Amino acid sequence: MVQERFHDPVLVTEVVAFLVRKPGIYVDATLGGGGHSSAILHALFEAGYGDRSLLIGIDQDDAALREASERLRMYKAGLVLVKGNFQDIEGIISRVCCEKERDPLVAGILLDLGVSSFQIDTPERGFSYLRDGALDMRMDSSASLRACDIVNSYEERELARLFYRYGEEPRSRSIAKAVVAYRQIHGSVGGTQELAAIIRDNAHGGEKVIKTLSRVFQALRIEVNGELDVLSRALDGGINCLEGHGRMAVISYHSLEDRIVKQAFAEKAKSDWGPKGVGLREPLAYGEIALVTKKPLIATPKEIALNSRARSAKLRVIEKIPLRRLL
Ligand SMILES: C[S@@+](CC[C@H](N)C(=O)[O-])C[C@H]1O[C@@H](n2cnc3c(N)ncnc32)[C@H](O)[C@@H]1O
Repeated sequence: MVQERFHDPVLVTEVVAFLVRKPGIYVDATLGGGGHSSAILHALFEAGYGDRSLLIGIDQDDAALREASERLRMYKAGLVLVKGNFQDIEGIISRVCCEKERDPLVAGILLDLGVSSFQIDTPERGFSYLRDGALDMRMDSSASLRACDIVNSYEERELARLFYRYGEEPRSRSIAKAVVAYRQIHGSVGGTQELAAIIRDNAHGGEKVIKTLSRVFQALRIEVNGELDVLSRALDGGINCLEGHGRMAVISYHSLEDRIVKQAFAEKAKSDWGPKGVGLREPLAYGEIALVTKKPLIATPKEIALNSRARSAKLRVIEKIPLRRLL
């Protein structure tokens, strides 16, 4: 079953307003169905920057690349789509820019984290506890680790740690115990619905069951796709590629992601004033970036009413500070 709409982009007006301010190279590192890319390209052409601009779209999911390439075909001349992981953003940008004979300096980067509605709503991808499918959860279907490998081979202690660390699930231990007990009786956990039933039997009732289901599925998805490690690398690599006054916008959907983004940005925005009490007139090193959004931006009630995915979205934006000239 495939839904009619691939994915409705979240906070799209805000993303475009923050990012698109001049002609240049723009990178959508989480292309998905191309919703944000389409809006960025539209804004570039509206402003008369289209001919001098290039959009690099990156995704690790073949289905996303197929959808986006169809949706964005009218912009073909100024568009390069790349299958890859955004942790390699620096290498991807330098390769594309070399091919296009352009300086590898980027005006804007977007990371719209997590999975698309299309991925969640495709049962055989195994992302949703609401759909009957294999326990897969790979965004890149050529990757080797699947959710079923974790559920059926990790020891009880490892599973408990995983559900707690990546799902912040308070009942992580009893769910891990139940999974292992199920394996001992039935040999293995077969699919999303078998896992969901184990979780339901071991969660507290009512609304808490839904929360526990979401947290355990989230934890598995993060482990399968190495989501938190690749995010840190993408933030570092992306900031390295920004030109002076270039901007990076990141939309996160849960607190683990948002914490990483917030801390990485705060760290890079900080100047180094040396040991306390030295009283330098200038810092030893200036911060690399400025925080454009001091607090994360969230969706309006109107957007949330139209698109439930927007409910947990948090947008943070930074701007690269141009290198200071040596006197
Ligand atoms: C929330 S969706 C993006 C939707 C997109 N902004 C749109 O408007 O259609 C996230 C997309 O990023 C991709 N993705 C997630 N992590 C990735 C990674 N580490 N490297 C490359 N793509 C990734 C997913 O496959 C998915 O298609």
